[in-house]
Formats: sequence, C-alpha cells, structure tokens
Amino acid sequence: MVAETQIVDEETLDMSPLDEVIEQYRSQPGAVIPVLQKAQHIYGYLPPEVLQHISRGLRVPLSQIYGVATFYAQFYLQRRGRHTVRVCDGTACHVRGAGKIITALERDLGIAAGETTPDYRITLEVVYCLGSCGLAPVVVIDDQVVGRLVPEKALELLRELP
Ligand code: FES
Repeated sequence: MVAETQIVDEETLDMSPLDEVIEQYRSQPGAVIPVLQKAQHIYGYLPPEVLQHISRGLRVPLSQIYGVATFYAQFYLQRRGRHTVRVCDGTACHVRGAGKIITALERDLGIAAGETTPDYRITLEVVYCLGSCGLAPVVVIDDQVVGRLVPEKALELLRELP
C-alpha cells in the first residue's frame, strides 16, 4: 500500500524545475552536491527517478550520484513526513527520561524511530545532543525546540500538528 503510493508519486514527478537546475550547473565541476541539494529542496527527498534524471542531465554515472547521495546524512532517499520530530537521547536527555518519550511516541505513531508514518505526516528521529542540555529532555518539532518534556506533553504536541 505504502510502496504503491510512492511509486505513483514518483511517476508523476514534474522534472521541469529540476531541468532548470541541471541546466544551470551542467558545465560546472563539482555540480553533483549542489544539484542534489536543490533537487531535495524541490521534491523533499531524492527518489530514484530524480537521481536517474540528474545522472543523465549532468552526464555523471548513476553509481557516483548514489555514492554521494548515500554518503551525506543531509540527503534523504526515502520520502519524509511533512513534519520531522527529533528526540534527543544524548546523555543529559537520556538520564532525564528521553527513553520514555521515544517509547511513547513510537507507540502512539505506530512506527520505530527512524521511520515515517504511512500517511507521511511525521518522521520520527532520535539524535544525540542538540546542544541544549540545560533544557533536557529536548525534542525538536520541525524547527521548534521544546525542552523539559514529559511523554504526555510530547504526545499532546504531536497531536496538535496539522
Ligand atoms: S543531551 Fe540532549 S541536548 Fe544535549
């Protein structure tokens, strides 16, 4: 079911904005990373069709494109949720109950950390220290940092997301 949705989405991708980006970078050395960044900005992630299109457009072997896309953590090869929820499980957050927050969110969303809900509403991630240890335990919902969280409050915040 999920796979079918993704395939349909990928088949209907409009490549024209990507063509403009490729055109802009075509003759420049080191174009792969900026083109991948712009492609991800356009599509939200880097599906196989986009990587193939970039490979053809820049005349760079697909294996090389995949090599770059999988090397850098900034690139996503899987479709992501509209919202990204990052729960910190670094030392300070861990000792203040981050594990309970992660378990509560996983149970409520029906996914494991690192996964996206089937309706593509939320991607749940675990990170290790966000540099706000004084606020532990910390969760970042999209770009909003929320500190001193407890599982109940975290669940409430997620339910409020559109
Ligand atoms: S350990 Fe969580 S913010 Fe530092």
